[in-house]
Amino acid sequence: MSGNGSNIADIRKDYQLAELDEQTAGDNPFIFFNKWFDDALRADASEVNAMVLATVDADNKPHARIVLLKGIDESGFVFFTNYNSDKGADIAVNAHVSVVFFWRELERQVRIEGIAQKVSAADSDEYFNSRPEGSRLGAWASPQSQIIKDRSILDYNYQQYEAKFGQNIPRPPHWGGYRIVPDKIEFWQGRASRMHDRIVFEKDSNSDWKIYRVAP
Ligand SMILES: Cc1cc2nc3c(=O)[nH]c(=O)nc-3n(C[C@H](O)[C@H](O)[C@H](O)COP(=O)(O)O)c2cc1C
Repeated sequence: MSGNGSNIADIRKDYQLAELDEQTAGDNPFIFFNKWFDDALRADASEVNAMVLATVDADNKPHARIVLLKGIDESGFVFFTNYNSDKGADIAVNAHVSVVFFWRELERQVRIEGIAQKVSAADSDEYFNSRPEGSRLGAWASPQSQIIKDRSILDYNYQQYEAKFGQNIPRPPHWGGYRIVPDKIEFWQGRASRMHDRIVFEKDSNSDWKIYRVAP
């Protein structure tokens, strides 16, 4: 296989930066995720809070796209979006979602699986009001995921909402957060010769975290 004159099949990287064992991972995946997130921040990882979000639609077809992690609390991982978007429609019929982080600077991947639940209106308001004015208007102006005739529709909508709201831009009712309440989190550390480390936390029937290692 080739792309642009180079042979794609020959592209490979050996991972040697670090190791991961059960002791280091501890017994609480939130604490460990926060540690890895801090490491990624310190390593100046590119788009450190960007995660690929996979949802499944009513026909069981998967769809993946990037969203930004905007908060972590004791119950889950929060992102914000348009509830009327394709992803919102998917979540409405199937709340099971998966997200993936890839911090290439640290040769690390984290996979989270769980249930997406809307955050409270108060939490959505709080985050919405912290956003720059342009982003707040954009949330009104963009009918996310819908087919539009051309870009001018967006500019027109933006100007209309700017004139309507002035400085006082409320949160659109169709815009807000989801909290992914995880039942499984896998931490992956790249190792030499594809002998990577994979430590998984999975909730058992008592909602306790079961911890195990899986083969790379
Ligand atoms: C770096 C990056 C960050 C993004 N962050 C978000 C986000 O936080 N929320 C969001 O709704 N879309 C975000 N997007 C856009 C989504 O990837 C996607 O295009 C959009 O949400 C529509 O997806 P859907 O039609 O599947 O619902 C981001 C895209 C990129 C590349």
